[in-house]
Amino acid sequence: MTDKIPETMRAMVLTGHGGVDKLDYREDWPTPVPASEQVLIKVGACGLNNTDINTRSGWYSKGVTEATTGDAYSTVDEADPTWGGSPITFPRIQGADACGVVVACGKDADQSLMGRRVITDNWLRDWDEPGNLNKTGYFGSELDGGYADFTCIDYRNVGALDTDLSDAELATFSCSYTTAEGMITRAHVSEKDTVLITGASGGVGSALIQVVKRRGARVVALASENKHEQVKSLGADVVLPRAPDSLADALNDTLGTNTISVVADIVGGSQFSTLIECLERGGRYTCSGAIAGPIVDLDLRTLYLSDLTFTGSTVVTPQIFKDIVSYIERGEIKPLLAKTYPLSQLREAQQAFVEKLHVGNIAITMS
Ligand SMILES: NC(=O)c1ccc[n+]([C@@H]2O[C@H](COP(=O)([O-])OP(=O)(O)OC[C@H]3O[C@@H](n4cnc5c(N)ncnc54)[C@H](OP(=O)(O)O)[C@@H]3O)[C@@H](O)[C@H]2O)c1
Repeated sequence: MTDKIPETMRAMVLTGHGGVDKLDYREDWPTPVPASEQVLIKVGACGLNNTDINTRSGWYSKGVTEATTGDAYSTVDEADPTWGGSPITFPRIQGADACGVVVACGKDADQSLMGRRVITDNWLRDWDEPGNLNKTGYFGSELDGGYADFTCIDYRNVGALDTDLSDAELATFSCSYTTAEGMITRAHVSEKDTVLITGASGGVGSALIQVVKRRGARVVALASENKHEQVKSLGADVVLPRAPDSLADALNDTLGTNTISVVADIVGGSQFSTLIECLERGGRYTCSGAIAGPIVDLDLRTLYLSDLTFTGSTVVTPQIFKDIVSYIERGEIKPLLAKTYPLSQLREAQQAFVEKLHVGNIAITMS
């Protein structure tokens, strides 16, 4: 804690939209200095997520209509918008899911955080209006994030916690679990529901299984078959292939009914209409991602004649992050860390991340 803070640090710097060649590993990047309401975190680990990959590649541009690949798009340039509808500036250090120790506090920050182990809430707020979801930024997008030895963030954007989990394990939680909890909050999931989760082996999907089970609801998980054992071990009641020949028949065979009350979808793409057709009257569809493609077919008759409710979910309230920190501390949710890579190998880590051979998440470690 009394270690001197170096003037320069290691950082993986994104220099523009494109492929992994746009990630520049530097050992001479200036160490940030916390503003008055910020803390400086010595980063121990930082989790990967698709937002970083989509931002790097430019996938959020409306000109891109295909599945996430992680590769460059020839139609995208620096004027294209990212997740929030506006362009970002470069150079930028990405990484939303940082875990580390607070080593300095700005003068107006909460000084009791000094020396505490923290994880970051990736939603940057206007703290005069923290409930205004229009006034948000994403850590590692509108502000430098955690793929570096040190990072700065507002003191209200960290959760201090006491736990035996490793930094890399803690770095798997924030973005995925707050997203998952935000989705099921918007869809009003309760113990009465049966929730079908797509992409259930991934970061948000595996988080969804755990937060849905925490509410006492039943889970039907869709995942590649070689990942079924691990998905089942997270608590899924029924695990089905990523794209069953007939989803309705598969539900009937396993649940005794071919409908469910909620779909929590992060995959989208060609399977969307099949998912919607399996919702019961009054059912709810909630979505926070479209990794298999953002453009889908919808028969509006199914939407209105079945009295369905659709919710999108991205920016969550500050309370959801606090709740996730409390679930971690009480051991109500468990990390699913597939692999770690050193910071210098973030490019290789992102390539493995988009190949999707893993279950859970991958983290970068700084030691
Ligand atoms: N709105 C937000 O705030 C927010 C936050 C986090 C993530 N997201 C979005 O949510 C989506 C999922 O994120 P994540 O972090 O959970 O991703 P992830 O860890 O990469 O997992 C996605 C899973 O989807 C499954 N999948 C099904 N069809 C796929 C396809 N065509 N291509 C690739 N994977 C496919 C894969 O599992 P199987 O191989 O088992 O099928 C994969 O493991 C992404 O689009 C991401 O951008 C949004």
